[in-house]
This record gives sequence, structure tokens and C-alpha cells, in this order.
Amino acid sequence: MNRLILALDLYDREKAIEIARQTADYLWAIKVNWPLILGSGLGIISELKQVTGLPVIADLKLADIPNTNRLIARKVFEAGADYIIIHGFVGRDSVKAVMELGETIIVVEMSHLGAKEFIQPVTDKLIEMANGLEPFGVIAPATRPERVAYIRSKLKPGIRVITPGVGAQGGKVGDVLKAGADHIIVGRAIYQSDNPRESARKIHEEVEAWS
Ligand code: XMP
Repeated sequence: MNRLILALDLYDREKAIEIARQTADYLWAIKVNWPLILGSGLGIISELKQVTGLPVIADLKLADIPNTNRLIARKVFEAGADYIIIHGFVGRDSVKAVMELGETIIVVEMSHLGAKEFIQPVTDKLIEMANGLEPFGVIAPATRPERVAYIRSKLKPGIRVITPGVGAQGGKVGDVLKAGADHIIVGRAIYQSDNPRESARKIHEEVEAWS
């Protein structure tokens, strides 16, 4: 199984499509976030799918009431997204509203420093929710492999652990895969490099070596 996800946090449509085209051979999926959607429009999702043939993850980190989450998610799934990333801390009803429409990935912890303030203290509850709802996957921080191992150990088998934070944020491929991650998300270390295809190839090779 290919395990690398490219985070395309660019505004520019042409540049995003070009990098997706160059790196597609080494990817499992492409993740789009607000920068690309705001810079290039929602149509970028189907364009990326057409160009690469890969699934697209819409990393919207939805965190609203059920009705608003549903209204947003409907448009994004209609635009072709295969998965949507949502926050769990807003509660089960808000999460379920998205899950009823398509595949979801729930944030149970984040990779940045501030995650220790409010998210990490409730990670256990978020894992419990995920175990009850059984989403496609959860997001865990590649910057803290010991937390990835903890989350994996508490999570029902079959729910994928997806980890951003490798590369620019300091996470290491080997550490995070050893800790039990199923997929790693890499953004800047690929799209900001002089040769995105070569950077993706090297990371993919490293992932394969640990698999
Ligand atoms: P970089 O450039 O740091 O990009 O490789 C990482 C991508 O992943 C997103 N990101 C996160 N998403 N929980 C999430 O749901 C996290 O802890 C987290 N950390 C990074 C980030 O928005 C970017 O698209």
C-alpha cells in the first residue's frame, strides 16, 4: 500500500496541478486545504483527480454545528472530495452530520505546539468517539511519535492513523511509521523543494523501506 499523502498548500492552481502531476507516481492521495481552495476554487478538487487519478482529501477541519457542517461537506463531496477532515471536539452530532455524507477523518490530536493546550487533554475522549463512530481514519501528530503510538494502541484496528508533521515540522518518517502510522502527510518538504518529484521519490523510498 502506498502511504504518502501530499499536502498541496499553495494558492496557485497551475503550480498545484504541475506539482501534483510531477509527484503522483509516489503518492497515495493528495490533500487540499483552505489555501488552495480559496486560491483556486473548489473545482481544483476534480482537476487534481483528473490529472493524477488519485483520491483527494479535503482538509477543512470542519468545526461547526451539525447543519453548517452538513451544508459545507455536501458541497465538498459533490465537488469530488473522497475524504473530509473534521474536528471531533465539537461533538458527536457535528461529526455524524459529515459522516452521513461520506468518508471522514477525525482530528484527535494536532502536530503544533499549541495542541498541548486544549486538544491533547481531550485526546482520549476523541479516540473514544472515533472508536464508537468508526471513521475512515484519525489525524495524529508526526511531531510526537510517542503520541502516535499511544493513539494507535487505543484505537480500534481498521481505523487508519494519518500523520502530518513530517519534514518541515520536524517529524521523521521512520519514527512515525514505527509508532504505527498508516499514512504520512508531507507538504512543504515536497512542494517547496527545488525538485518536488525527486523529493517525493526520496520520501516514498524511505516509507517503503520502513513498510
Ligand atoms: P507541512 O508543510 O507541515 O504540511 O508538511 C502539513 C499539512 O498538514 C496539515 N496539518 C495538520 N492537520 N492536524 C491536522 O489535521 C495536524 O496536527 C496537522 N498538522 C499539520 C497542515 O494544515 C498542512 O496542510
